[in-house]
Amino acid sequence: MTTIETQSPPRERAVGQGIDRVDGPEKTTGKARFAAEFPYPDLAHAALVHATVARGRITGIDVKAAEAVTGVLSVITHLNAPVLKPPAAQSMLDLSTMVSPTSVNYLNTDEVHWDGQPVAVVVAESLEAARRGAALVEVTYQEFPAAVDFAAEQANAKPQKNSMLGSGSSKKGDAEAALAAAPVSVDLRFTTPPHNHNAIEPHATTAVWDGDRLTVHEGSQAIAWMRKHLALRFGIPERNVRMTSPYVGGGFGGKGLIWPGTILTALAARATGRPVRMMLTREGVYRTVGGRTPSAQRVALGADRDGKLTALIHTSITRTGKAGGGPEGVTRASGHLYDAENILLQQHLVEMDLIPNTFMRAPGESIGTFALEAAVDELASELGVDPIELRMRNEPARSPLDGKRFAHRMLREAYALGAERFGWAERTPEPGSMRDGRWLVGMGVATAYHPSVQFTANVTARLSADGTVVVRCGFQEMGMGGATAQAQIAADELGVPFEAVQVEYGDTDLPTGPMAGGSAQTASIAAGLLVACEKLKSAVLALAKRSGDSPLRGQRLAGVEARDGGLYRLDRPDAGESYETILSRAGRPYVEGVAGAESGLGAVAGQVRFMAKFLSDQRRWVKAACGAQFCEVRVDQDTGEVRVSRWLGVFDVGRVINAKTAASQLRGGIVMGIGMALSEETLVDPRTGRVMNPGLGDYHVPVHADIPPIDIHYLDDPDPTMPLGLLGIGEVSITGVAGAIASAVHHATGKRVRDLPITLDKLL
Ligand code: MOS
Repeated sequence: MTTIETQSPPRERAVGQGIDRVDGPEKTTGKARFAAEFPYPDLAHAALVHATVARGRITGIDVKAAEAVTGVLSVITHLNAPVLKPPAAQSMLDLSTMVSPTSVNYLNTDEVHWDGQPVAVVVAESLEAARRGAALVEVTYQEFPAAVDFAAEQANAKPQKNSMLGSGSSKKGDAEAALAAAPVSVDLRFTTPPHNHNAIEPHATTAVWDGDRLTVHEGSQAIAWMRKHLALRFGIPERNVRMTSPYVGGGFGGKGLIWPGTILTALAARATGRPVRMMLTREGVYRTVGGRTPSAQRVALGADRDGKLTALIHTSITRTGKAGGGPEGVTRASGHLYDAENILLQQHLVEMDLIPNTFMRAPGESIGTFALEAAVDELASELGVDPIELRMRNEPARSPLDGKRFAHRMLREAYALGAERFGWAERTPEPGSMRDGRWLVGMGVATAYHPSVQFTANVTARLSADGTVVVRCGFQEMGMGGATAQAQIAADELGVPFEAVQVEYGDTDLPTGPMAGGSAQTASIAAGLLVACEKLKSAVLALAKRSGDSPLRGQRLAGVEARDGGLYRLDRPDAGESYETILSRAGRPYVEGVAGAESGLGAVAGQVRFMAKFLSDQRRWVKAACGAQFCEVRVDQDTGEVRVSRWLGVFDVGRVINAKTAASQLRGGIVMGIGMALSEETLVDPRTGRVMNPGLGDYHVPVHADIPPIDIHYLDDPDPTMPLGLLGIGEVSITGVAGAIASAVHHATGKRVRDLPITLDKLL
């Protein structure tokens, strides 16, 4: 029996604290080495030549002028390129196929599938010579008719079936009939343009061959998947490929799949026998890395006079490339947000002769929640009900579409806290009723929602006799603070100071990690890390018990606690031993805990266990992060200029591991959402299919002056079904942003803009 006096004081836990990122000093001092900064003697530089037709065949390539440039080593085209194995058809069972966004065998074909597709690579002694050479390559084409105008192609869109990647088609009841019968309704059309990736680090690759071994340095969100794919394409065993990605200057989905630059850098290195570096220009990223699909959406809502929803219809049309790409979950959130008796969700897809679309922060949900949330605000106006009140009247107890339980759902709490902190009560409902001099002031809200998923992760945790810990996992750090979060978790699990933990990541030589995507990386690694730490503590306890005079003798793991750099009995807190004592007595320099097997039966069993749990979870629960977005905008009464003047978000993201990096992630998503709402738009020439604004001068991402202070709150309540209770943070905060802004603009001006971006011309 223990008394309060004999309890040790609760030690400070690392999890939850706002600890600075461990990679911060390396980045701020310039010590961090990114993919394009690996020095090799004899390093050559490569540049791409892009197709200038959307669909066709190459009939001739004149490389003479390029070859004549001083310093040019080689001009590689489909006429002289090393043979590559073609990408395999996508299969969920083989990640090397999933990571390829296109079916094109670059430089092994004369076919062109989009304007911008690489058709040649120039390798030179210097970057300047490579780029100069690339500009001088003359390509002629036989051109074929191409489908490049999204507005025109929508008529050819085909209904999409349900899939793992999104609610292609779902229904409950008869939503059209309920809509027709509803006393109050809205039936609206929304459109969103394509968006492109603009990570601060443009895609870059350094590739080096040593015989049949390939090393690739790449800013990647998925080093393990890409390694597998490169091995497949170059016909070498996977163990012959090493990929490193110690730092990634932003990914957002754009570095999740393997785009042509990566493959062609490895190919150029093989062809020339030199280490080769390729840094895409900003324009090169637009031409060879996919972005977000444009969309045309319908949201129709029917309600009784009290605002109880009777019908919810959300349909969408998006595009992929004929050469690849896929559906995005545009209507996915709409099955889980409002308790409508009748629901109809239907996505449509059209294949076009354009670069395949790809993941881009909350793919689908970000644009889908724009339409849904703006429509809910319009219904609130029709009903004369406060938009938060309307949402609360329709807040479901179970997932409306399928009746599954929510693993976690604190939207009511999020809105209550947000309304209080934001000062929602000061909003006068009448549009145009709030002013500040020449500025029309508006306030808007929207719901944020993003599903929570997990991947497998192999993790090892090694405890040395000096009490330090090394956690190893081949994950990716693209600025979100992954290593810092895992160090916090390991510190608490093992009872050592945060500073005693070092995390190694970003290298396929490490245990295979998850991809950094789907807001899933932190939870995925945490699941493995928890297992590794348990095994480590078991091993340490077993060592201790070998000694006759250890106070831990006879103890089971459940009866001890890891704290203060050792293991201590729960029943007698003064009885225990430091790790140092245990390991040095046993003569062991270190003890390791291993989660997951790299190969053999153990790996297969691990995958089977993971899938079984995943599927049983999917049957039982709807798992998602959610939140309430609040914004204030100011619209210039004469020019229509829109400024976002305040933002507040309250998020239900489960347990927060690091208060500082979590808030940064959530802010980042909101910034990206403000760009989507007000300025970002990829302009595709409807005649040629060429991107017309491939650069930051013409494609407008928000700058500091566009962003107000962003006030972040989270509820920090663990989800019972996720590792450590964390739901994932990267993507939820972009959802709802554009809907909140569109609603605030309406509140300020009385105008509804249903076509993104909300530029001033649409308000005049
Ligand atoms: Mo994200 S769009 O899953 O990198």
